[in-house]
Amino acid sequence: MSKRFEIAYLLKSNIDNLIDTTINIKGWVRTKRGNKNVAFIAINDGSIVHNIQVVVDLANFDEELLKKITTGACLSVDGKLVKSMGQGQSVEIQAEQIEVYGEASPEDYPLQKKGHSLEFLREIAYLRPRTNTFGAIFRLRHAMAFAIHKYFNDHGFFYLHTPLITASDCEGAGEMFQVTTMDLNNLPKTEDGAIDYQKDFFGKQTSLTVSGQLEGELGALSLGKIYTFGPTFRAENSNTPRHLAEFWMIEPEVAFNDLEDNMNLAEDFLKYLIRYALDNCMDDLQFLNNMWDKELLERLNFVLNNSFVRLKYTEAIDILLQAKKKFEFPVAWGVDLQSEHERYLVEEHFKCPVILIDYPKDIKAFYMKQNDDGKTVRAMDVLFPKIGEIIGGSQREENYDKLLKRIEELEIPQKDMWWYLDTRRWGSAPHSGFGLGFERLLLFITGMANIRDVIPFPRTPGNAEF
Ligand code: 4AD
Ligand code: MG
Repeated sequence: MSKRFEIAYLLKSNIDNLIDTTINIKGWVRTKRGNKNVAFIAINDGSIVHNIQVVVDLANFDEELLKKITTGACLSVDGKLVKSMGQGQSVEIQAEQIEVYGEASPEDYPLQKKGHSLEFLREIAYLRPRTNTFGAIFRLRHAMAFAIHKYFNDHGFFYLHTPLITASDCEGAGEMFQVTTMDLNNLPKTEDGAIDYQKDFFGKQTSLTVSGQLEGELGALSLGKIYTFGPTFRAENSNTPRHLAEFWMIEPEVAFNDLEDNMNLAEDFLKYLIRYALDNCMDDLQFLNNMWDKELLERLNFVLNNSFVRLKYTEAIDILLQAKKKFEFPVAWGVDLQSEHERYLVEEHFKCPVILIDYPKDIKAFYMKQNDDGKTVRAMDVLFPKIGEIIGGSQREENYDKLLKRIEELEIPQKDMWWYLDTRRWGSAPHSGFGLGFERLLLFITGMANIRDVIPFPRTPGNAEF
């Protein structure tokens, strides 16, 4: 067998020295067409959105073998690499030897070449990476994960691994998945009839984390600049195109940063990621632009080249109250903004990404720095076109007494928070951070409309297939 080359290499590199030599490629058949004398097989190996064409002179091959070459089958092909006469490809392979690794019967292989709906492909999520669309999306997902690590590493941040199993509810929303090894049909009880969590694996009640922030703050108050990048879990029963029960979050946390610094970091970070995608993933972006969202590239460039609008929640409420548009959820000072409000501000009013700050304290988490007005906190949400909230963050309350008072007001169990409070007793410092939802970022980067289509195996209410 000759030396194997990946298709991305053959289509993207200077391969003059390989022309007219025999090479090997491996991959899956996308299409096969031809006539009595010759077959054209388009092969894709996942390394790039484009296929390579294999030309088969039928006279040279056994009929039984040729029958096995159908859409979805996996092949290993040896052949001469030649410059292509055909349109749309620079090189092709004249087959000399073909081995069929795995057949895919046309009777039952679900991914025949006709176009499939995204809904149908969700039902066969285990096969959808073999389509051009999901190949492009998951290559972009990889590229964005790499770019995130690169950005932080280049800016002197340390990657801190925060725990996935925890006893504290960072966001205080009570939306946690419990973790237990107890027999649910035979729960140990205390004398007063409550569940005896002392008998559980960790000796206390535990859950999957909704955020790595609290532990991230400990990291920032020692290492200076940290970030987390890991899975988070939320048992919120919202079946929307923007919510997952298991999603990935990136959470930078920086000592000595105030809210202004935090906003600057968020804007710089998001623009870096968009630029990285445009500079490194144009084949996949162009494909998605042509296939699904004709404004994708324009939108990415627009966000990259314009400053984000920054304004206070109170000012945003005034704008929404004056809007001619009828909202499904009524607007008043103190309400949490719905996606329709966020998208009105971004898409219709400012026509630009918006960073909203200084939200009412009652709709935000306990840890946010309290403003002197007694009503608002130093929160910030970054709102994006087509997405709504892509980032949520804040300056943190560094004052022990104020933080403790807020924890008491909200009746957050202090037995789970003592270690967090201790950071405000010893060497406390101003600090800020935020959380970027990785799949929300990918919705924006890929132009996809449903969050289930930017994660390989989505977890949503009622669905944990694959
Ligand atoms: O606004 P959130 O809840 O903020 C936090 O968790 C903070 N602890 C972050 C921090 O300051 N370190 O979530 C942050 C982001 C949201 O802006 C959104 O992009 C994403 O996480 N997110 C979700 N993404 C998908 N599915 C869900 N159910 C999500 N919930 C939040
Ligand atoms: Mg939020």
